[in-house]
Amino acid sequence: MELRFSTWQEVDAYLQDSKTIIQPIGSTEQHGPNGLIGTDALCPESLAVALGEKTGALVAPTIAVGMAQHHLGFAGSVTLRPSTLIAVIQDTVNSLIRHGFERFYFLNGHGGNVATVNAAFAEIYAQSSMAMTAADRSQVRCKLVNWWQAEGVMALSEELFGEAEGSHATCGEVSLTQYVYPHSIKSAEMDPPIAPTGPFYDAADYRRRFPDGRIGSNPSLASPEAGEKLFKKALAGLEKDYRAFSA
Ligand code: NI
Repeated sequence: MELRFSTWQEVDAYLQDSKTIIQPIGSTEQHGPNGLIGTDALCPESLAVALGEKTGALVAPTIAVGMAQHHLGFAGSVTLRPSTLIAVIQDTVNSLIRHGFERFYFLNGHGGNVATVNAAFAEIYAQSSMAMTAADRSQVRCKLVNWWQAEGVMALSEELFGEAEGSHATCGEVSLTQYVYPHSIKSAEMDPPIAPTGPFYDAADYRRRFPDGRIGSNPSLASPEAGEKLFKKALAGLEKDYRAFSA
């Protein structure tokens, strides 16, 4: 069940049975020569919708722009600064708390969001802890789950792609979007086949170190068939984890 396709009466009825909502969160940033700029939003969104169908969970509209300052050296990338993203998450969660939601299952598609999302959770808990009467908010629980860390997914990526999986514009995430959006498959030469790895700082530094945008990956190995396997593996792991969180 998706919030954007529901009526307020349907949400009222949902809240009689469940206080948990799935919040997909991603990023709008370059993903190398054959990866879609929407990759990090499309992956958690498609998994969240499937997870919602399996479990009956309500799925909030995707927060599709994340913390991606280091990708601004590439055309099309968009970022929120950390403080803005914290505000977006706080306002979203606080709005939903007002209606009675208590558990927030953030399904994430972008490693660069992790620190900021956890900072936003700390702000939300501080708000509960510092309230004059904490009773109304004391049940609030937020959880961040990276889809690529769902049970079995990293092992499957390793089996499918070995060291070519990399850490940005990965074979796994590109495969997942190829499975879900087969009409948007792109192909490109990868030179060198496996991209360099290493640390980075701001956008100009990132562009210098990783000229085509990839880190450590060779996403020319991506395929919709691999994407289907990864999607099914991730969904099974997420279902187990969501049910435990929501119970
Ligand atoms: Ni990504």
